[in-house]
Amino acid sequence: MPPFHDTPHTCTGFRILSKERLTPVTNRFVLEAPWVARAAQPGQFVVVRVVEGGERIPVTIADFDAQAGTVTIVVQEVGRTSRLLCALQKGGAVLDVVGPLGEPFRALKGKVVIGIGGGFGAAALYPIVRGLHQAGVMTEAILGARTKEFLILERELRGVCREVLSCTDDGSYGFKGLVTECLTTRLPQLGAREELEVVAVGPMPMMRAVAAVTAKQGIPAQVSLDPIMVDGTGMCGGCRVTVGGEVKFACVDGPMFDAHQVDFAELVRRNKMYKAEEAALNAG
Ligand SMILES: Cc1cc2nc3c(=O)[nH]c(=O)nc-3n(C[C@H](O)[C@H](O)[C@H](O)COP(=O)(O)OP(=O)(O)OC[C@H]3O[C@@H](n4cnc5c(N)ncnc54)[C@H](O)[C@@H]3O)c2cc1C
Ligand code: FES
Repeated sequence: MPPFHDTPHTCTGFRILSKERLTPVTNRFVLEAPWVARAAQPGQFVVVRVVEGGERIPVTIADFDAQAGTVTIVVQEVGRTSRLLCALQKGGAVLDVVGPLGEPFRALKGKVVIGIGGGFGAAALYPIVRGLHQAGVMTEAILGARTKEFLILERELRGVCREVLSCTDDGSYGFKGLVTECLTTRLPQLGAREELEVVAVGPMPMMRAVAAVTAKQGIPAQVSLDPIMVDGTGMCGGCRVTVGGEVKFACVDGPMFDAHQVDFAELVRRNKMYKAEEAALNAG
């Protein structure tokens, strides 16, 4: 049988080697995508199209194995395309996977890096923290979710962190409260502020709150922004964000940015621009 994909970066038909339900609305897929796997680095993403004529959606690379030629994505069902994707099964295929896209994560100079993952953000956090751990950096993680059943990748992160603290909004597991409350409790136990660094991936309000806490404490922080993306290659301007007073395109300049420089208010406004259209599509 001919291979599913024969050219780098834009190949057609990416076989699903495994599918695993992580929460009632989140699935982990391992895709056969050797060209993407060979070039992937932590912090990057792919743009996925499920069916011919379908929407292209950006999804973070949650893991990659260059030798096995696989790329892992973790997808949360939020609307039409993510639902279509999550309905696919092992043995099926995603129509196309373009990537890796975006700039890889670059650590600053922290001796201890605290990774904060909210919801499916834990999946994007994992390769970042693993990369730091492999480079000899001391890593910790704080994971947050609404309830225990929405908490993901705790076991995987434990393998690459000296400490993993889990938080749930309802107290059904771990610390009862928000990741920022957990971070504030943890910080005094970690020694010199100048040795610390934070990287946060998750819902926008969470990243905004992490930016506020770390700015107040004088701790450098990076966040992975998720504006609406269209082409994912810097051509359309859809993913425009303002960082440090400058216009940046999250798909090519990011998605990781200095948390303290991001104009979150503008990002929230821009992400709401297509709410009505999305609602109409989801209802249709
Ligand atoms: C860099 C980046 C990495 C991402 N990584 C992941 C991931 O690892 N796993 C995951 O489940 N989701 C990820 N997302 C979000 C994912 O792209 C959206 O959930 C998806 O596009 C929703 O499409 P939909 O048709 O299912 O839902 P819709 O009903 O169309 O949209 C639901 C919500 O998803 C967001 N969204 C919609 N279209 C886009 C788009 N083209 N670009 C960005 N956001 C959009 C909006 O906030 C919207 O309100 C990422 C987004 C970005 C920008
Ligand atoms: S998605 Fe088009 S410029 Fe970034």
